[in-house]
Amino acid sequence: MNSLQNLLSPVKIKTMELPNRVVLPPMGTNLGNADGTVSEANLAYLKRMARGGAGLIITEVSAVYPSGSAINCELGVYDDRFIPGLKRLADVAHAAGSKIALQLHHAGRESLHLLQEKKAIAPSAIRSLVFGLTPREMTREEIQEIIAAFGAAARRAREAGFDAVEVHGAHGYLLTQFLSSLSNQRADEYGGTLANRSRFMLEVLEEVRRRVGEDFPISLRISVEECIKGGYTIEDINPLLPELVRAGADIIHASLGTHGSPAGITSAPIEYEPGFNVWRAKKVKEVVDVPVIAVGRFTDPNLADEVIARKEADLVAFGRQYLADPDFLTKAREGRHEDIRVCLACNQGCIERLILGEGNIRCAINPETGQELIYPSGPAAVRRRVWVVGAGPGGLTAAYEAARLGHKVTLFEKEETTGGQLRFVCKAPHKSIYGDWGTWLTSQVKKLGVTLHTGTKVTERMIEEGKPDAVILATGGEKIIPDIPGIDLRMVSDAWQILSGEVDPREHAVVIGGGLIGMETADFLLKRGAQVTLIEVLKRSPVLKITSHGYMLHTRLREGNCKLLFNTAIRRIEENSITILSDGEEQILSPVDQVIIAAGLKPRDDLRKTLQARGIPHFIIGDALQPRRIMEATEEGARAARNLS
Ligand SMILES: Cc1cc2nc3c(=O)[nH]c(=O)nc-3n(C[C@H](O)[C@H](O)[C@H](O)COP(=O)(O)OP(=O)(O)OC[C@H]3O[C@@H](n4cnc5c(N)ncnc54)[C@H](O)[C@@H]3O)c2cc1C
Ligand SMILES: Cc1cc2nc3c(=O)[nH]c(=O)nc-3n(C[C@H](O)[C@H](O)[C@H](O)COP(=O)(O)O)c2cc1C
Repeated sequence: MNSLQNLLSPVKIKTMELPNRVVLPPMGTNLGNADGTVSEANLAYLKRMARGGAGLIITEVSAVYPSGSAINCELGVYDDRFIPGLKRLADVAHAAGSKIALQLHHAGRESLHLLQEKKAIAPSAIRSLVFGLTPREMTREEIQEIIAAFGAAARRAREAGFDAVEVHGAHGYLLTQFLSSLSNQRADEYGGTLANRSRFMLEVLEEVRRRVGEDFPISLRISVEECIKGGYTIEDINPLLPELVRAGADIIHASLGTHGSPAGITSAPIEYEPGFNVWRAKKVKEVVDVPVIAVGRFTDPNLADEVIARKEADLVAFGRQYLADPDFLTKAREGRHEDIRVCLACNQGCIERLILGEGNIRCAINPETGQELIYPSGPAAVRRRVWVVGAGPGGLTAAYEAARLGHKVTLFEKEETTGGQLRFVCKAPHKSIYGDWGTWLTSQVKKLGVTLHTGTKVTERMIEEGKPDAVILATGGEKIIPDIPGIDLRMVSDAWQILSGEVDPREHAVVIGGGLIGMETADFLLKRGAQVTLIEVLKRSPVLKITSHGYMLHTRLREGNCKLLFNTAIRRIEENSITILSDGEEQILSPVDQVIIAAGLKPRDDLRKTLQARGIPHFIIGDALQPRRIMEATEEGARAARNLS
């Protein structure tokens, strides 16, 4: 067993003595109060994360200027009135034995609400790639004002008891906007050459140093590459790094990407290997002699330990892995690697929820994250005899949560194996990790003492005879079969039959339905050499390119020459051809030797009436309520378990 001796070794950075080299990197939660003060939800979230034993916690973005926030409920540090709340945050970290840095942030143009309110400022009046709106160019007075604001914010952080500050110079926010020629076309000494474009960052660091004193550690988070067409590269940035160290940086936090980088590479999707970004940290270490933090898809402490042993980085950040399982480090320390809930890098509950304005931070596979204030630790006031019907993501999560709270849980699955739709999800390219998660959940429910019956379809009669105290119905969805002439032909199958291997792919395939399941199936077929046409009745793909997985899927389908026909309906299917209606015109597509239905699901909730008629308390969750995503299934499963007593 790896002892994690490198990862768990202490390190001293100026006055800050870190007990180990694990970093909880900054992650915006949107849990703050609307006025920028620290909320009870912020404190509860941080307390839970801090129990995870990171040596260094870096808080989420905190606005140094009133109109500098990226998210609505961003924490503020632009006034002394924020100090008491921030002090409570620092105390939470210290009570857990961690050190804590406050991340100092100005969004510049990358703030939807500031752009909409016409308050967004930036080095130049250049449109935000992501939000499509244009900021106002900063005056030179404003530049000085913001530099001073960074310094004042750092002084407040120190007064609030933080052990360090981190200047957010990454991800396309204001400091990166100055650094990048894509967003900085100023004609004064803050624009033009790289030396000029870096002036703002250098002056911010110098001012922060002036305000916090020589002994206080300053981390600089920088995207060492923009990872966007025409953006700067690590070769451009490396010569600048020693300058940044001279100006005040005691730590280089080597992140990557900017707003608009393909696939949101900053929080990279599953296609990127764990630790894929370490080579950049290593390159940074070649030119600076201060500690360097590596970040990017770390989920396994053993890998982080090796990175440090090889001296490729001095510290390693685990972002989304903390959201998926705040206890992963403790489990690894105790040699319980098999108990770690591994992040799927799906981004559904975390970064994309924030970007799409869906609410506060969550995690698709950990229902506690972002809900710490209402997440019960158990045991439940009254222990119930609970049946959970269906062992997909929703049912498995409900069983796990109910058992955790002390209920006596029996979980039924009609198939021989658990996982529900995950049994098919994991067959799609790059998604085998979803199957691993299903296996993990199954092993965890067993460990918690849940009685599992696979190959057992729950019927009306079983419920009548078994008389459970409560039932959680997690029976998923039924396939929708569209009413099209020819749908009964032998050449027609469905996405699930293809993904499971029940039906072999043929050469010329048409997939009916351009939602996620249809696109995944097309991706699967392309990988097996098929020529694929995807037909979708909607005008646009429901799979958003703005999401990381959506971007990757669209790219692979385009590169695989998949023909995507939107705003198109199928009229009839015949041997060797199909007739479609597109833009009011009928067309015949041929040759076609396989038609695959992926037209969505409808709720499978036939036991609902029995439960209602018998007056048995019940909850319908996940796809059985309405076919949606994993996030909703797990969330509703946990909520049902919480509401059992
Ligand atoms: C190819 C594919 C890719 C997908 N990709 C994603 C993705 O990337 N992200 C995402 O969020 N979602 C994705 N989904 C959707 C996601 O898998 C579902 O939303 C999720 O599985 C719903 O979980 P659930 O537990 O509600 O239902 P299900 O997963 O459908 O599980 C229901 C279970 O109940 C069992 N059951 C039904 N009736 C009975 C009964 N009477 N007795 C006992 N057992 C019964 C079924 O056999 C099944 O195992 C994908 C789906 C597919 C098919
Ligand atoms: C929900 C969420 C919010 C984030 N907010 C911030 C932030 O406030 N400041 C920042 O510098 N990076 C932010 N990031 C980026 C992370 O700090 C981290 O660099 C990224 O997730 C990659 O690390 P990981 O693969 O370990 O998750 C955020 C990421 C996520 C998922």
